[in-house]
This record gives sequence, structure tokens and C-alpha cells, in this order.
Amino acid sequence: PFPETRVLAVAMGRYVGNTMAGFVMQSLGCEVAALNTVQFSNHLGYGQAKGTRATAKEITDLYEGLKESYLDDFDMILSGYLPGAASVEAVGSIARDLKYKHTMKPGSFFWVLDPVMGDNGKLYVAEDVPTAYKGVIKDADLILPNQFEAETLSGVKIVDMDTLKEAITKLHEEYRIPHILITSISLPSPGAEKSLSVIGSTMTSAATPRIFGVKIPAIDCFFSGTGDMFAALILVRLREAVFEIEGLSEIDAWRSEDDVAATDLPLARATEKVLASMHHVLTKTKEKRDEAMGKYHSRVKGRGEEDDEKKFHLVKSKAAEVALVRN
Ligand code: ATP
Ligand code: MG
Ligand code: NA
Ligand code: MG
Repeated sequence: PFPETRVLAVAMGRYVGNTMAGFVMQSLGCEVAALNTVQFSNHLGYGQAKGTRATAKEITDLYEGLKESYLDDFDMILSGYLPGAASVEAVGSIARDLKYKHTMKPGSFFWVLDPVMGDNGKLYVAEDVPTAYKGVIKDADLILPNQFEAETLSGVKIVDMDTLKEAITKLHEEYRIPHILITSISLPSPGAEKSLSVIGSTMTSAATPRIFGVKIPAIDCFFSGTGDMFAALILVRLREAVFEIEGLSEIDAWRSEDDVAATDLPLARATEKVLASMHHVLTKTKEKRDEAMGKYHSRVKGRGEEDDEKKFHLVKSKAAEVALVRN
């Protein structure tokens, strides 16, 4: 029903990053050019990995190669984990180059930027990366920070609804970002069941943020690659949502929806679909993990061996990855 989506995906490999995002987008019909920012044997959640990080120059070279062969006819760019400030800047230049090139069709090129920097109060990239992101996010169309990343970019510590709104407003106003999705946030609510929320916001032409939230049940399990899966799904579902709205053929047209209820915004509709998929896959993933853990424990006990944390983690991760990829 809508034209094929050509995506440039810039992220890391091996069951997180592009291995996950590329697979998801291809499954949903996109034509994906994967530009891997690291070449690792496995993701860092294993506590050990071999491989190398791409330099900013290598990232730029690959993009130049695409251009020289006329393979740069992209509709969207999805950027994820970038190993350092220089590569953040390199990707910023690539995204701007694609946007500029597409000014023949104004507003039709779209950058989904996942500012991968850290989680749960901790930075896991180099210290100069946040500043680099602050320099490039003004050209992004949708950003996907988790709570920690939203706090880092906005400079506002999110502790309640007021500070949440303040952070979102600041991101819209200071960086002119049209769409923001905070992919997970958990506000302290004493006595309540542990839940997560996804908070989204679209800036309208009247410059007022339209904020919506979706509460999701927190699954008692640690997953890897969820941020990347989320990013890939939202890219596809958002483009679908735009083409579903009659008369809209260009992504820029959503920016002027002052009269639409926040929950009817294309971003909100797309988010609901994404969360349904996430829930389905993660529930299955947990089942597979529990199964594998059960097997591991009985095997180890049967042989009279001691439980080894490291081996156990490997079994757990493999099971989770298999489930995520197969679903
Ligand atoms: P990552 O840690 O992979 O970089 P992220 O921190 O950027 O991811 P999150 O906000 O943690 O992204 O997760 C993205 C999505 O994954 C959430 O919106 C949610 O749908 C799903 N998710 C992750 N962990 C859980 C969980 N334990 N229970 C339920 N949903 C989860
Ligand atoms: Mg997370
Ligand atoms: Na995220
Ligand atoms: Mg993330």
C-alpha cells in the first residue's frame, strides 16, 4: 500500500544493533543498507568480546562508497550505537547530506536517531559523546532516548510528571526536534506494581508539544537488543502511519496537526503497534530463557559441577537472542 522504504542503518552488530534492527526492518519489507559501526564477536552484555570499532573516517568512507555507486537513494536513516564523538559527528554529516540532497522533495527524508549513551543512571560511551549528540540532534526528526539519555540531553532530572514535561519541552525547543519518544521511563510510585511507561511527543505548528503516554507491564527479565528492536519497529510503523492517513504523502505534513488528539497522532498510533510487537516477542523470549536456564541447571547438577555465573549468562543470552530473532 505504500512505497518501499530504503533505509541506511548505522549501528553495531551481533544480535543487538544492526543484527536486530536490520532483521526487523527487512522482515517488514524495507530495503536496508547496513553500515556497522563496530565489528564485534558478540555484544558487550556477555562481559567479553573481541573485535574493533569503526573510526569516523571508515564510516564516512562507506557512505562515500554508497554515493559513488548511486546506492544512496534513502528515504530514512536509522542511527544507533556510535562508538565515539567523532563518529556521532560523521553520522550527523551523513544525515545532513541525505537531507540536503532530498530537498527536491522537501520534508520527505527522515532521521530516526537513537542516542545510545547509557542506561539506569550510567554512561556507557566516551564522555564526549553527549556533547557530540547535542550538536547533531537538531537535524533529527525522531529521537528515541531512554530515561537516562533524555535526562542527559535535556539536563533535566526526571522524577515526576512535571519534570518529564520540562525535559520534553526543552528537547523540542532547544533542539527543534519534531518527534520524541522516551522508550522507557519508570517514575517512583510507592506501593504500585512495577510498570514502565513509554512517553511520546510531537511538536505542532503552534509550537506546543502534544504529549501521550502508554503504560506497559514490566517483564521480570533483562533483555539485550530491545532498544534496537524498538527503533527498527517504530521506523517502519511510523512510515506506515503516515501513508495510512489519506492525503498525506510526505512525512513533514504531520507537523501541523494542532486539532488532532495526542493519542491519534501518527507517532502514538505507531507506538501502540510497536509495543504490541515488543510485548509478544519479549514474553516469548522470557519463556525460552527460563526453559534454557532450567536445562542448564539440571545439566550442571547432573554432572556434579558448580554453577558458573559466566557460562550461565552465555546460555541465557543465547536463548534470548534466538527467541528475539525467530519471532
Ligand atoms: P537498550 O538497553 O537495548 O539500549 P534502551 O534502554 O534504549 O534499550 P529501553 O527503553 O530500555 O531502551 O527499551 C526499549 C523497549 O523495550 C521498551 O519500550 C519496552 O517496550 C521494551 N522492554 C525492555 N525491557 C523490558 C522489560 N523488562 N519489560 C517489558 N518491556 C521491556
Ligand atoms: Mg534500557
Ligand atoms: Na531507547
Ligand atoms: Mg538504547
